[in-house]
Amino acid sequence: MNREKVQIFDTTLRDGEQVPGCKLDTKQKLVIAERLDGMGVDVIEAGFPVSSPGDFLSVSEISKIVKNATVCGLTRAVKNDIDVAAAALKHAKRPRIHTGIGTSQSHIIHKLNTTPEDIIARAVFAVAHAKTYVEDVEFYAEDAGRTDNAFLARVCEEVIKAGATVLNIPDTTGYCLPHEYGEKIKYLKENVKGIENVTISCHCHNDLGMATANSIAGAMNGARQIECTINGIGERAGNTALEEVVMIFKQHPYLNLYTDIDAKQLNEMSRLVSDSMGMMVQPNKAIVGSNAFAHSSGIHQDGVIKNRETYEIMDPLEVGVNESSIILTARSGRAALAYRAKKVGYELTKVQLDLVYVEFLKYADIKKEVMDDDIHQIIEASNLQDDL
Ligand code: KIV
Ligand code: ZN
Repeated sequence: MNREKVQIFDTTLRDGEQVPGCKLDTKQKLVIAERLDGMGVDVIEAGFPVSSPGDFLSVSEISKIVKNATVCGLTRAVKNDIDVAAAALKHAKRPRIHTGIGTSQSHIIHKLNTTPEDIIARAVFAVAHAKTYVEDVEFYAEDAGRTDNAFLARVCEEVIKAGATVLNIPDTTGYCLPHEYGEKIKYLKENVKGIENVTISCHCHNDLGMATANSIAGAMNGARQIECTINGIGERAGNTALEEVVMIFKQHPYLNLYTDIDAKQLNEMSRLVSDSMGMMVQPNKAIVGSNAFAHSSGIHQDGVIKNRETYEIMDPLEVGVNESSIILTARSGRAALAYRAKKVGYELTKVQLDLVYVEFLKYADIKKEVMDDDIHQIIEASNLQDDL
């Protein structure tokens, strides 16, 4: 079976930047956009041009420097939004307008105070109007996760007729279970006329911690674009994490899906976004957290030292981390202590190790983590130098 590519649509600079207190300036956005482009991202959502002069400027400047990726600007299904986005994207080599409207009952009644027919009319107008500026028009059905499938299919069919090239099916509130989201994509594939000519996109939020699982379920059911952010940052609990999607396809080759992302850049990219936004990455974050390749319990350390694969499903080098770390704590065993002692220059015999280990445990009970300097100190205080 042929492997199929899943396009990576990065929205770190749009949905990701909606994190409270984490605003980026244009210069920072340009640095990130250039790195995303170099890393193999297919689409960079650069901002929401009508939202502020600063966002307009960022989208416009990013459009000038991005060499390979499609540059995308978000709009509501509003004429002026689309006109402004088109102006901001005018220098892009591959411009895309991303327009859309809420389709769930909740959005139709409470947010937009209108009727389903009016939603379809506005959606069709927006796509057709965007199409007067650019060939590549993505339509989002906001809150598709909670939208009735039959109505969603009608909306999709109409916007395809109006010229949409990509259909974004957002689980805006992060509500769906993976099998439900996957079935939604399957339903659309089977019930929307013309859908074979467009790309289906997953845009999942993480309110219940299922954004990545839902995106993967979408891809397994036929979606060929995933919208995500570096470190999974974004509104509320965030978006699907780019690094997770990339590594899931690598680690599960039988899915026959791949991305063009150079995974070796993931770790550095994570740091760049975290530093630029002043937003720390949780230590246990999959792939890029500081503990993602750190082993601290004796049982795990012993296994990893004997063979990395006992407790690691991927090589840290694959994601740009130089090596796994063996953290010395009171739960570490002799194998870990010997391993770390060797790294700082001490090849301990079995007898020496037994002696040092007793001192090490006393130390480790006081300190949370025993560092390289501490190891020197413990070994030197153990008066072993002559025997070493
Ligand atoms: O979550 C969402 O529905 C969105 C759309 C604007 C694409 O971010
Ligand atoms: Zn979103």
